[in-house]
Amino acid sequence: MTKRTKQKKSSIHAAITGVHGYVPPDVLTNAELARMVDTSDQWILERTGIKERHILKGKGLGTSHMGAEAVRGLLKKTGTAPAEIDLLICATTTPDFVFPSTANLICDMADIRNIGSFDVQAACSGFVYALTIASQFIELGTYRKIVVVGADKMSAIIDYTDRATCVLFGDGAGAVLVEPNRKYGIIDTMISSDGAGMKHLHQKAGGSRMPPTAESVAKRLHYVHQEGAAVYKFAIARMAEVATELMRRNRLTKDTVDWLVPHQANMRIIEATAERMKIPPERVMVTIHKYGNTTAGTIPLCLWDYEAKLKAGDRLILAAFGGGFTWGGIYMTWAYDARSPRSEDRAGEGARSKGGGRGLAGRLAYMLKAPFALLVPFPASSLRRGG
Ligand code: ACO
Repeated sequence: MTKRTKQKKSSIHAAITGVHGYVPPDVLTNAELARMVDTSDQWILERTGIKERHILKGKGLGTSHMGAEAVRGLLKKTGTAPAEIDLLICATTTPDFVFPSTANLICDMADIRNIGSFDVQAACSGFVYALTIASQFIELGTYRKIVVVGADKMSAIIDYTDRATCVLFGDGAGAVLVEPNRKYGIIDTMISSDGAGMKHLHQKAGGSRMPPTAESVAKRLHYVHQEGAAVYKFAIARMAEVATELMRRNRLTKDTVDWLVPHQANMRIIEATAERMKIPPERVMVTIHKYGNTTAGTIPLCLWDYEAKLKAGDRLILAAFGGGFTWGGIYMTWAYDARSPRSEDRAGEGARSKGGGRGLAGRLAYMLKAPFALLVPFPASSLRRGG
């Protein structure tokens, strides 16, 4: 069971005010996989819902490459200067290096300097974990513009001779801008884990317990090891549990949830979660057919793909699970209508250039990055949709 957490009390919400994604250009189809291992397009499609996935090729390109592409696009489309960002968090299971963090590398590549940056490791639940952390900084008033990235180059740790895992995963990254908002944003979060699940899904070698050796490489121990059926059982139970618990404690019904944004591991898991919530398929975000399981990338890539369909005030439930085991969920209201022209109205309350447009007290508070910045009233013109 997921441990009960206190619901938020703050009147300031952490709202997503922009989203961007990146998938590498090279596509690996089911037909190509069927030439590499004993599988078929029909088996993969029927059992997982995946048709193709994108693979990052190119010497020296790691997860940070995709994360930086997503972040640069995000800054551009939201009209945000790198110097405005206060914090960058990257959820990933496939960091470029053990250290420094991939978040650190993405900052450098996106020209974001002198801010805090760190990675979050919670496998496929990583983006939900990272967004939950970001929301705390926003609600407390510590920071006003946070970039949260979910990025994974799963092809780096997948054994392309193992048909049970190689058909499932792809590479990709998504990034969101998170800002304070009085009306819309994150309302409730749940994160949880159970380390006893490690045996069913992990990478045996390459960490401090079994550092890489010629033998570990020869035995292919630095690839994903997964007992699919055990993970499947766990995933179905936890995804449904977290989604329905968020509905229950926020008094939501099948008619008041506008979108389920599920982690994309298997179409059957997505369908089972939606069925438990009684949400019809047209209100479930699905990208698994074209991207596969991009681990921490799935949820921001879904938001990116469906951005044009989202309207301010839409109620979203994010639900994820992954290796560890880890799982988590977020209930939020969407903060903008992507169809409206991009303008001041489109961006969040912290969208203007640092210290600009808030009056002197607001500017000073912001410069000090003090929690009381949020106590300073915003001029009416700076609030988005009456927030
Ligand atoms: N092609 C053809 N046959 C296959 C393939 C394949 N790619 N993979 C497995 N099979 C075979 C198996 O060998 C088995 O054959 P057998 O009966 O002769 O032994 C048969 O298909 C059935 O195997 P199952 O594992 O029972 O197949 P299942 O229907 O459960 O599907 C799958 C397997 C897709 C892996 C499913 O178990 C699953 O989705 N599990 C969860 C995966 C997941 O969600 N991972 C978590 C996220 S990852 C992260 O956090 C990093």
